[in-house]
Amino acid sequence: MKRLITLRVNGDTYEVMVKPSETLLYILREKLGLTGTKHGCDTGKCGACTVLVDGDLIRSCLTLAITVRDRDITTIEGLANNGDLHPIQKAFIENGAVQCGFCTPGMILFTKAFLEENPEPTEEEIREALAGNICRCTGYVKIVEAIQAAATYLGGGDR
Ligand code: FES
Ligand code: FES
Repeated sequence: MKRLITLRVNGDTYEVMVKPSETLLYILREKLGLTGTKHGCDTGKCGACTVLVDGDLIRSCLTLAITVRDRDITTIEGLANNGDLHPIQKAFIENGAVQCGFCTPGMILFTKAFLEENPEPTEEEIREALAGNICRCTGYVKIVEAIQAAATYLGGGDR
């Protein structure tokens, strides 16, 4: 049976009818039109569907929408500020870390949460933490460089 729930996404409030079995990924893309969050493996392995809930990384393909009602959800659409890209988005573009772009929203949200936890990561720490986000295009070198640049832009390390 469907239920009416409130979802707060990127500062906007939505009243949505959901089935208990519907995932946050499905609701974001199909009901709210927020297609920046990508539908990859559907099994929690690729990270393409990564979003933030109260600042924490979650796999939206494994998260039932009903369980995140009334919490603060951030998707890639919520990062730019009045048309100005977020420093992490700029770092990915400037460092050539985007090819097909399918992994990029998840990578960028991963980077946001990761750099809040560890503002001055080493390359090894970045590579280790990135293990949950799969990119099939770039070979990761450019993504690691983008994350290092983002850390610098955000006032963290350059080591
Ligand atoms: S689509 Fe969710 S982890 Fe791959
Ligand atoms: S840029 Fe294509 S999957 Fe990462």
